[in-house]
Amino acid sequence: MGDIRRLPIGIFDSGVGGLTVLKAVRERLVAESLIYLGDTARLPYGTKSAQTVAAYALEASRRLVSFGIKALLVADNTSSAHALDVLRAEFPGLPVIGVVEPGAAAAAAASAHGRIVVGATESTVQAGTYLRSILHSRPNARVTQLACPLFVSMVEEGMVDGPIAEQIARHYLDPLFSGPDAADCLLLGCTHFPALTPLFHRLLGPGVAVVDSATTTAMVLEDLLALRRLCAPDGPPGSVRYLATDAPERFARVSRTFVPWAIEPSEIETIDLG
Ligand code: DGL
Repeated sequence: MGDIRRLPIGIFDSGVGGLTVLKAVRERLVAESLIYLGDTARLPYGTKSAQTVAAYALEASRRLVSFGIKALLVADNTSSAHALDVLRAEFPGLPVIGVVEPGAAAAAAASAHGRIVVGATESTVQAGTYLRSILHSRPNARVTQLACPLFVSMVEEGMVDGPIAEQIARHYLDPLFSGPDAADCLLLGCTHFPALTPLFHRLLGPGVAVVDSATTTAMVLEDLLALRRLCAPDGPPGSVRYLATDAPERFARVSRTFVPWAIEPSEIETIDLG
């Protein structure tokens, strides 16, 4: 048997937004090779039922596991919220981590007074996983879940600043971040929202912590790999392989909003999960 430490890490998302998590992993775990799968044929997941999201997540994860991976990272918040237990049961022995627990722990630690807003997709809000996870870390927190579906389309259109983006952000955030009882922390519970971080900082001001789960998730992954003695040996930067279930041109174009390097359509392998 080969050296298991040299196997890649599988990263799964409903589409392109999970590249924010891939970026954080690449920055922190330079020697690791990564296989990223975006289920672009079936996105968005954020409007779908728990059963559908779990079924899709399972299919995508099975495909990644079939390539021979040493760990599975679920970058999609909606799948992390609904399907982590299902995936852990399906792949016993394989380290499976999602973005919800690391993000929730980071928000619980960053919030000054425990007044936390979780911005997420509708389906993630329905799951309530962020809410339970934050209360687990900080039982006295006041947690408000906020479905912000327009942010997803806005970011995919590259509209991350300017008057329209600002008006939509105000529509969602003003009611919760104004007045004497205003929240003091915004947890970005969706892959797409980190692209709006500068806008959120500008609108919410320095008194509000804006927490992104990607960096914390990469730290949790690093710890888990170290614990299981699975870290890639030191060496040159690992490779990255991109898979999508549809529309590689769109994947390549939209990726520019999420990562600073260019991904060409020719680098993206189109696969069928059906
Ligand atoms: N990746 C999804 C999430 O983080 C957002 C896009 C979608 O709804 O599929 O929840």
